[in-house]
Amino acid sequence: MAFTLDKVVPWGRTFDEYIAMFDLSDDDLKQRILGCGDGPAAFNAELTRRGGRVISIDPVYAFDCEQISSRIAETYDTVLSQLNQNREDYVWTSITSVEELGRIRMAAMGSFLADYEAGTDEGRYIEGELPTLPFENESFELALSSHFLFLYSAHLSTDFHLQALQEMLRVAREVRVFPLLALDGKSSPYMEEILKYLHENGFDTEIRCVSYEFQQGGNEMLVIKGKS
Ligand SMILES: C[S@@+](CC[C@H](N)C(=O)[O-])C[C@H]1O[C@@H](n2cnc3c(N)ncnc32)[C@H](O)[C@@H]1O
Repeated sequence: MAFTLDKVVPWGRTFDEYIAMFDLSDDDLKQRILGCGDGPAAFNAELTRRGGRVISIDPVYAFDCEQISSRIAETYDTVLSQLNQNREDYVWTSITSVEELGRIRMAAMGSFLADYEAGTDEGRYIEGELPTLPFENESFELALSSHFLFLYSAHLSTDFHLQALQEMLRVAREVRVFPLLALDGKSSPYMEEILKYLHENGFDTEIRCVSYEFQQGGNEMLVIKGKS
């Protein structure tokens, strides 16, 4: 099925949120990083500005800056009103209100949009879709998935998750996924089967508690590495 913009609700996180969600150290940030499903997040723009090496892939990069920008404007009020209705599902300590969240997300998406054309020309924003990645084996040290795998467990099958993770592990030595909750706020039902598969296929896994929690209970990241 074609990926159409009217189905997309662009919503992008900040560089600092990526650091916290993925527990990224200064050494991690020196590595070659792939962001899978980065959408309009500010991570690529900000890390590049700081001298890092990062590529983002996302199907939304089929669209140009004006199209993505218009879609952000069209969907913004609906997203904020849904968040308002479900505000008890979230933790309002570091971000204290829906309005503040809206400002933070719009600033992050503004950074992305300002960088998008240059980043596309430089090959940092590449149209692509898991479970297939257009890269050679071990092209990256680290591959990240923020708010895509596990979160959409109601829409994407176990097989999709297994294929996507294997593909990320083909192109990167280490994979980190955040959050481990689905959209309903419950743990992804696929976790047990996926961990079993990864262990049986020679990977080490760690579920690491991180300093970021916005979805209630969503403060864990999955780290996957080949056995050393
Ligand atoms: C909720 S957004 C998260 C954006 C960003 N990672 C963040 O945390 O701010 C989910 C992203 O997944 C992207 N996406 C949808 N299907 C995908 C696929 N098959 N492979 C990779 N990304 C996909 C969407 O276009 C969207 O940008």
